[in-house]
Amino acid sequence: MHIHNLSETPSILNSFISELRDKNLQKDSMRFRRNIERIGEILGYELSKSLNFEAHQIETPLGVSHTVLHKKDIVLCSILRAGVPLHNGLLNYFDAAENAFISAYRQHKHNPESFEIVVEYLACPSLENKTLILADPMLATGQSMVATFEALKPFGVPKEIHLVSVIGAQKGVDYVAEEFGENSHLWIAAIDQTLNNKGYIIPGLGDAGDLAFGNKLQQ
Ligand code: URA
Repeated sequence: MHIHNLSETPSILNSFISELRDKNLQKDSMRFRRNIERIGEILGYELSKSLNFEAHQIETPLGVSHTVLHKKDIVLCSILRAGVPLHNGLLNYFDAAENAFISAYRQHKHNPESFEIVVEYLACPSLENKTLILADPMLATGQSMVATFEALKPFGVPKEIHLVSVIGAQKGVDYVAEEFGENSHLWIAAIDQTLNNKGYIIPGLGDAGDLAFGNKLQQ
């Protein structure tokens, strides 16, 4: 897996990540969602540089412009519910993409420190020979990404896979790097060092789904 950690080069992206993390600013859920969306746009732009491009001619009112355009073979798949603003950001740029949605959540059966990933809702077009972009803002343990990819297997074999995340923990990054093959990329805005005993990223930002959409009752 090719790992692209955009924080390695300081940029305007740092301001958006800082606002997401800031415990006062993140109370403004509209700003929180918009910052995730903005990060999705930036990650999408960076990712676009690695896509396949083909020659095109565009007729202007005054002549013909020769250019290269990326192949319109993208399927954008997001994990509900925190993935929605990241999905929007990516879709702002990959506006011709097909879309897939999947619900994957942590089910704490015995105690708050252990959980399994439950996949329920899934809507997906064919993935055969497509460019699959899998979006999940928080790459904590990496288990949701892997469970999602397993659930998508009946829909065909993509020709390349791009994982997109806002913040990851090193453990989750290492896990997806092991599970996804050579022909895959991770585009991520920041990588933090640790997870707490509930599987939250430290320092991270808290619960992205709750911050974007309000508190949920624990299952
Ligand atoms: N999901 C979140 O929303 N936050 C984390 O830190 C980990 C998973």
